[in-house]
Amino acid sequence: MSERRVLLIVGGGVAAYKALELARLFRKAGVGVRPILTAAGAEFVTPLSLAALCEDKVYQDLFSLTDEAQMGHIELSRSADLIVVSPATADLMAKAAAGLAGDLASTTLLATDKPVLMAPAMNVRMWLHPATQRNLARLKADGVAFVGPDEGAMACGEFGPGRMAEPDAIFEAAMARLGGPAGPLAGKHVLITAGPTAEPIDPVRVITNRSSGKQGYAIAGALAALGARVTLVSGPVALAAPPGVTRIDVETAVEMLAACKSALPADAAVCVAAVADWRADEVFKVKMKKSHEGPPTIRLVENPDILATLSARGAKRPKLVVGFAAETSDLEAQAKAKLKKKGCDWIVANDVSADGIMGGDENEVLLVDPQGTDRWPRASKTEIARRLAQRIAEDLA
Ligand code: C5P
Repeated sequence: MSERRVLLIVGGGVAAYKALELARLFRKAGVGVRPILTAAGAEFVTPLSLAALCEDKVYQDLFSLTDEAQMGHIELSRSADLIVVSPATADLMAKAAAGLAGDLASTTLLATDKPVLMAPAMNVRMWLHPATQRNLARLKADGVAFVGPDEGAMACGEFGPGRMAEPDAIFEAAMARLGGPAGPLAGKHVLITAGPTAEPIDPVRVITNRSSGKQGYAIAGALAALGARVTLVSGPVALAAPPGVTRIDVETAVEMLAACKSALPADAAVCVAAVADWRADEVFKVKMKKSHEGPPTIRLVENPDILATLSARGAKRPKLVVGFAAETSDLEAQAKAKLKKKGCDWIVANDVSADGIMGGDENEVLLVDPQGTDRWPRASKTEIARRLAQRIAEDLA
């Protein structure tokens, strides 16, 4: 049986509904999903909908004669290549950390010899409680991998860390750990730039911008999930590198260019970074002070254009070079002009004057290549990333 298999443990929490979407993503990618639903989980999603999306029987009971006759719980715990716990509640984490085995989910986690990935979801106080943090550290030391939790508004009305990672993120983290039959980008190397750059003025001040790095990081994750070897050259952002991605941290445009050059050769390069156009000509060695002479004058010089440099003809030019264009007007015309000016193959253009795009979780883009323009509907940055990764895979095939 060549199909990769996941054992999906669905715990009890409002986030359990997201496990249905996760199951759908796995099935779409050809991954087998065998679901275990805890008693608490069954209060939030029905066995019927879970079975329908997983296209498999739902296992619920440690002492069910019918379940055991079909597959013993020890066999069940080893029947997949990876165990994904989504949502991983405080209770499930505590049981797994302590090695308890009073129900099917915890017995499975104790009996398995397979890797485990947990996606925690709980109230912020429960997450930050020393007991949960102790369990987290214990489980990490035992080799359990984690994705999330995210920070944000929660169903219980509080705000903070504890919200379960989105299904796309759990899917990517799982795919990176599954290995098995290689994806369409196996053997390909893709270079990505992401985030802002920070150009020093003096030891404490920088010129930077509001880029969050979210779109670039999502693209890195989506490419890795398709089997690519991904080098992510990143400016300063508050994001963790997606699983399976090699991240190189830089601050300035000059450092970003140097890191990109040393990452070559690559089959494709995707320049998502919001590189500062200018840097201070002279960086002051000591902190600039206010003086009676008034404010200082900072002379700016132009930064190197990384996209244009990578697009220039030469032995090391990646076969496919993709640039981004953040515009506030005349999107398509600007994108076409940029395609010519930079010498890249595609431009992904977005209107950053639209609400919730810059720094937000959604994006609405045009993909412009010399053949024409594709208009993609507004979607999450992860969905846009997956579409772009798919298109890159088709181009490199
Ligand atoms: O010229 P503009 O900044 O609008 O172009 C945006 C595209 O060029 C993005 O893909 C960005 O990553 C890239 N770029 C770059 N180096 C620069 C400026 C922009 O790679 N110095």
